[in-house]
Amino acid sequence: MRWSSFTALAFAARAHAMLRFSCSELVVDRIDPLVNPGLAPSPHLHQLVGGNALNTTMEPANDLPSIATCTSCQFTEDFSNYWTAVLFFKARNGTYKRVPTFANQYLEPARGGITVYYIAPYDGKTRVTAFQKAWAIEQRCRAELTPMQGFRMIVGDPNRRTDMKDGDSRSLSFRCWNENFGGELGAPGTNTDTKTLPNKMCPGGIRANHFFPTCWDGKNLDSPDHKSHVAYPESGSFESGGPCPASHPVKIPQILYEVAWDTRQFNDPDIWPEDGSQPFVFSMGDGTGYGTHGDYVFGWKGDALQRAMDQNCQVNCPTLKTQSTQTANKCSVPRKVEEEVDGWLTELPGGPPVTYS
Ligand SMILES: *[C@@H]1O[C@H](CO)[C@@H](O)[C@H](O)[C@H]1NC(C)=O
Ligand SMILES: *[C@@H]1O[C@H](CO)[C@@H](O)[C@H](O)[C@H]1NC(C)=O
Repeated sequence: MRWSSFTALAFAARAHAMLRFSCSELVVDRIDPLVNPGLAPSPHLHQLVGGNALNTTMEPANDLPSIATCTSCQFTEDFSNYWTAVLFFKARNGTYKRVPTFANQYLEPARGGITVYYIAPYDGKTRVTAFQKAWAIEQRCRAELTPMQGFRMIVGDPNRRTDMKDGDSRSLSFRCWNENFGGELGAPGTNTDTKTLPNKMCPGGIRANHFFPTCWDGKNLDSPDHKSHVAYPESGSFESGGPCPASHPVKIPQILYEVAWDTRQFNDPDIWPEDGSQPFVFSMGDGTGYGTHGDYVFGWKGDALQRAMDQNCQVNCPTLKTQSTQTANKCSVPRKVEEEVDGWLTELPGGPPVTYS
């Protein structure tokens, strides 16, 4: 299994291109620039990372690298925005407390946020299209622009409460960590990883895994549901080199978000439900975990991402400009919605009811 020793050293031995980097928390806010543009507050809370051109509305025409002045990601040419829902702990007395994120393994001292991966196809032969080239070819205007400006997509659906047994369902999972990132070592979503929030206490916190679709129609930067312009391989998997469907023929790098939820402070049997059920809920009122979702807005400067993929970068990437994590931690944006999101809350921000099916 390729992911079996998922350590920095193992990364170095990998033959194909992969970036793995931290993007520290930029803001926790009730905005949703893709699904609810312009709305502040949006229906549920998100944690958002990446460039500080983040806004309640993100017009596809906006060139994020030229608007942003900093990024919370380690690579300074990456002004993309990445976001997910927020996890809450529901105590026995019925009140909610926001679960913070913490730095993933080998990415300390990031101020929480999201660990982002861009993974090239595994066969070592297929040249991955890091978004801009296929588009440029399509438009016959190869050289002079940043053609993927405006590309965005979503994995998952905040309204899900069951296993839909489709590509999105297979792409979302949770790992119950032992202390110090211990426990399961397989690829995210394999072996003991679960599709629901773990139903037991996790001594080292909970990692949520979100794999995005890897096939693109090569034409549309977006679609009304922010999903139909991308697809999963028509057979097999990205990892096994499965072919893309004819409708979505262009292989793009596989994007993976890992979020390390620091549930450790809540590992107290006295405040867990007496019936032994798990007490965590997502900000959209999801008590199952099936509704976990990730949103992506492309914002790499020029051809930086393609360069990294072409140069077979392995985590460290000399062709990309980097900043220290301490500097990345300093990039933040003010919240648009002023409301209490920390402290013990009597309801989730925005008031969505918690549902379990
Ligand atoms: C966010 O959008 C508002 C309204 O369109 C605009 O005034 C503001 O400059 C934008 N901020 C950034 C950082 O782009
Ligand atoms: C509810 O439980 C939490 C965790 O024990 C506690 O910190 C909080 O003060 C309690 N709130 C109320 C209103 O009892």
